[in-house]
Amino acid sequence: MKMIHIILYFLGLLLSFTSHATSSFKDFCVANLLLRDTPSGYPCKPQSLVTENDFVFSKLEPGPPITPFNGGTTTVSVNNIPGLNGLGISAGRVDIGINGTVPMHFHPDATELLIMVEGEMTAGFITPTKLIMKTLNPGDVMVFPKGLLHFQVNFGVGKAAAFVAYSSSNPGLHILDTLLFDTNLPTAILEMTTLLDGTLEKGY
Ligand SMILES: *[C@@H]1O[C@H](CO)[C@@H](O)[C@H](O)[C@H]1NC(C)=O
Repeated sequence: MKMIHIILYFLGLLLSFTSHATSSFKDFCVANLLLRDTPSGYPCKPQSLVTENDFVFSKLEPGPPITPFNGGTTTVSVNNIPGLNGLGISAGRVDIGINGTVPMHFHPDATELLIMVEGEMTAGFITPTKLIMKTLNPGDVMVFPKGLLHFQVNFGVGKAAAFVAYSSSNPGLHILDTLLFDTNLPTAILEMTTLLDGTLEKGY
C-alpha cells in the first residue's frame, strides 16, 4: 500500500468512528416527566418512546389572570414541551386587561425577552442602582436580565398582549407579593423586615 492509501484508510476509519460517535451521542434528551427534575434537568425518556408531540405545544392562549391583578402569564416550559429539556430556552405569553398588571416578579435563572404584539404595556425592571422603564407598543422587544425584579402594567385603552422567551427550559415565577404576603410569616416579622411597621414614616 502506498502511504497515501494508508493515510486515507486511517482517515476513513477515524471518520466512521466519529460519525458513529455523534449518532450514538444524544442529539436531544426529551424529559421523562414521570421522574424527578434535577439541577441538570429531567432524566431522558427512552428514544424509542419519543414522538413529534414531545416537541410541539399547540395552544398558547391567554391564561387566567392572576387575582386580583387582571393580568397574567402563560408559560410553555419543559413541563409542556418535554423536548425543551436541557436546551435552556422556553416560551410564553403575557396578557393584561385594562388597568391590570403582571405584579412585581422574577425568574431566578432566566433572562426574559418580551415581544409586544397587541395594545400597550409599561414595563420595567429594578436594580439597586437603576430603574429601567418604558412604554411598549406592538413590534417593540424588551429584555429583562436574569434574576431581576420586573413588572408590566397596562395603562392603555385596550387589552395588551406579548409573547415572551426565557433563557431556561423551566424559568419559574416568583411573585413578590405572594412571597411576602401569602406565607405563614408572623405579621410582626413581616412588618419589621419590610418597613411596613411604619419605621419609614418615623424617619429612621
Ligand atoms: C382605568 O383607570 C383609569 C384611571 O384610574 C380610570 O379612569 C378608568 O376608568 C379605568 N378603566 C377601567 C376599564 O377600569
